[in-house]
Amino acid sequence: MSKPRALIRPATIADSEPIAPLLAQLGYPTDPEEIPARMRRLAEAPDAGVFVAEAAGRLVGLAAFQIFELIYRPRPQCRLTALVVDRDHRRQAVGTALLEAVERCARERDCFRLELTTRPQRPDALPFYVALGFAERPHRLVKLLADCPPRSRGMLD
Ligand SMILES: CC(C)(COP(=O)(O)OP(=O)(O)OC[C@H]1O[C@@H](n2cnc3c(N)ncnc32)[C@H](O)[C@@H]1OP(=O)(O)O)[C@@H](O)C(=O)NCCC(=O)NCCS
Repeated sequence: MSKPRALIRPATIADSEPIAPLLAQLGYPTDPEEIPARMRRLAEAPDAGVFVAEAAGRLVGLAAFQIFELIYRPRPQCRLTALVVDRDHRRQAVGTALLEAVERCARERDCFRLELTTRPQRPDALPFYVALGFAERPHRLVKLLADCPPRSRGMLD
C-alpha cells in the first residue's frame, strides 16, 4: 500500500511558530521570535525558497533551497540548504515529497544540478539521499566569519 502523502506548499510568515521546533530537530534551536524576520528575508530573496509539509493540519517538515550561478557552468545550480521531517513522521515519504518539490522548482529555474552538504552526525541523511539518487562527493571545508551568539549558533556549526 502506498504511503499517505503530506501536503507540500510554500512556507508563509504564518508558519514561523511551528518552524522553530523543526529547526531544533535539525540541530539549530531557534527562538521562534527570530523566525519571521528570517522568513521575510528569504521571501525577498528571488533565488531562495522554503517549502513546508503539512499533515492533519500540522507542520511536519520543511525544505529550504537557494539557486545560484556558477562561473564555470552555463546553467545555475540549486542547493538544498535545510531539510527536516518531524521525528514522528519519518519514513512516511514526507522527506521525499519535500525534495521532489525543491527538484521541480530547480528544474523550472533551469538548474543543471541539485546539491547539498551533510555530516556523519546525521545518520538518516546519507541513506535517504542515496535512496533518492544523490551521489556522494566528499570534502566540505568551512571557515566561520562571525562569532554567533550561542543561542543562534547551531550545534553542528
Ligand atoms: C533525512 C530525513 C529528512 C528523511 O525524511 P523521511 O521523510 O523520513 O524520508 P522518506 O520517508 O521520504 O524516505 C525515503 C527513502 O529514503 C531512505 N531512508 C530514509 N531514512 C532512512 C534511514 N533512517 N535509514 C535508511 N534509509 C532511509 C529509505 O529508502 C526511504 O524509503 P522507505 O521508507 O520506503 O524505505 C529525515 O530522516 C530527517 O529529518 N532527519 C533528521 C534531519 C536530517 O538529517 N536532515 C538532513 C539534513 S542534510
